[in-house]
Amino acid sequence: MSDQWYLDTVFYELYLRAFQDSNGDGHGDFGGAIERLDYIKSLGVECIWILPHYPSPLKDDGYDVADYMGVHPDYGTLDDFKAFVAAAHQRGLRVIIDLVMNHCSDQHPWFQAARQDRNSPYHDYFVWSDTGQEYADTRIIFLDTEKSNWTYDEAAGRYFWHRFYSSQPDLNYDNPAIHEEMFNIIRFWLDTGVDGFRADAVPYLYEREGTNCENLPETHVFLKKVRRLIDEEYPGRVLIAEANQWPEDLLPYFGNGDEFQICFHFPIMPRLYMALKQADKTPIVDILARTPAIPEGCQWMTFLRNHDELTLEMVTPEERQWMWQQYAPKPRMRLNLGIRRRLAPLLDNHPDRWLLLNALHLSLPGTPIIYYGDEIGMGDDIWLPDRHGCRTPMQWNAEHQAGFSTAEETYFPVISDPVFGYQFVNVALQEMNEDSYLWRTRKLIKTRQHAAALRRGTMEIIPTRNPAILVYWRVLPDERVLCLYNLSMHPQPLGGSLSGIFHDLLHPGKRSITLSPDMELPGYATHWLEMAQL
Ligand code: NOJ
Repeated sequence: MSDQWYLDTVFYELYLRAFQDSNGDGHGDFGGAIERLDYIKSLGVECIWILPHYPSPLKDDGYDVADYMGVHPDYGTLDDFKAFVAAAHQRGLRVIIDLVMNHCSDQHPWFQAARQDRNSPYHDYFVWSDTGQEYADTRIIFLDTEKSNWTYDEAAGRYFWHRFYSSQPDLNYDNPAIHEEMFNIIRFWLDTGVDGFRADAVPYLYEREGTNCENLPETHVFLKKVRRLIDEEYPGRVLIAEANQWPEDLLPYFGNGDEFQICFHFPIMPRLYMALKQADKTPIVDILARTPAIPEGCQWMTFLRNHDELTLEMVTPEERQWMWQQYAPKPRMRLNLGIRRRLAPLLDNHPDRWLLLNALHLSLPGTPIIYYGDEIGMGDDIWLPDRHGCRTPMQWNAEHQAGFSTAEETYFPVISDPVFGYQFVNVALQEMNEDSYLWRTRKLIKTRQHAAALRRGTMEIIPTRNPAILVYWRVLPDERVLCLYNLSMHPQPLGGSLSGIFHDLLHPGKRSITLSPDMELPGYATHWLEMAQL
């Protein structure tokens, strides 16, 4: 069972550049991250996902890999990487890394060789065209910057295929040499002791004419080979799929339990925000109803925010307009098909909203992941380019550069606005306030750790007449927890047939709560309840 550790674990998404600078160059690094591991541990999370740490020209912040077996010099050396993994393991923290299989950087030696010589074996590492007309049914993902998925390369005299920036040529999975390269890269990193991978952009590995070039059967054949390698050679490591798809299209990524153990559940994320703003649980209930059962040992990964824009790809065009109006009223807040804002600003820094949404997140079926800085309600800077506004330095204290760095200038400025500035939002201040976002995060995670039903229980949604009231059981044979939320800011009648005497796991010292159908719940009421023993 210990191979299934990921079913019980809360994950933490760590952006190395932002976390702690140990050498005063204005960039976070492995040395700095080691210094902050005790903090991460104190949250109660048990696995860290680090964003790409590879050498890269940083046209896509490391998702443009120039050397799959190296470490970006800003972050340190391979030895520093290993020291980080060892220090994490010493503390009982696991580490997973990003595996960017779909594409590399145009600076990668493979691409440089490929473009300069059509007869080079590396030419066939990429996807080329003489016309740039193929695969016309494929959508463009970075809509704000890319006009086509083909870009003409002068040196090669041909067009190359790319699903993301034109500086990120896609690798050619029809070439078995690419499979071998990836297997070796996977072995290389697993040999360093990492606990698995978050596999980037997996739906796009293959291209086929007449399709949208996503989720193709060939892709699954390859991914199953990756899983087999891991199971045979490195049992107990985890593979997580980043596939921004509808639930029914995600199901094949679990295979028969022989592909990914975990898939990010993209569609539920915007619906959590939608339901909260509309004070109506319907979007959540509907998407859960549309979410298929998954094989034994598999799990969804849930999140509220990450390092990208809050993606609105998995909503209808009408819903997207509504989300933009509600959550991104200024045009600059929008990016591609999403919103470039952080959690606390999206919630107007409202503590009750924050608690409700985080409690909801941590009580849904799935493995939750928390984005660095959201545990203290960090703000964003929408004026920074691309998605960098949500990747600013971690705010540790009210001192120079928020305690992040001794440098005069950091990679991007520390947030210093009057609401979310580091002077007001930082770890040191929140450590002293038991009602802070930081302590609330710890409490939610700890409570979840002590209630197995919240981690592994099945979910039973209780119908209520009031759309603002979301109630569900998380159920194990010998334990059940009732999760109860009032999505409205106003007091609301419970409106269901629930009754009984309960203890609130989130307020263990308080008196018990008696539920009855006609009782009224305060605005944004948030409870994790256990039936009181009579
Ligand atoms: C998804 C990553 O989360 C994003 O940051 C990146 O730009 C694309 N994949 C391309 O690698």
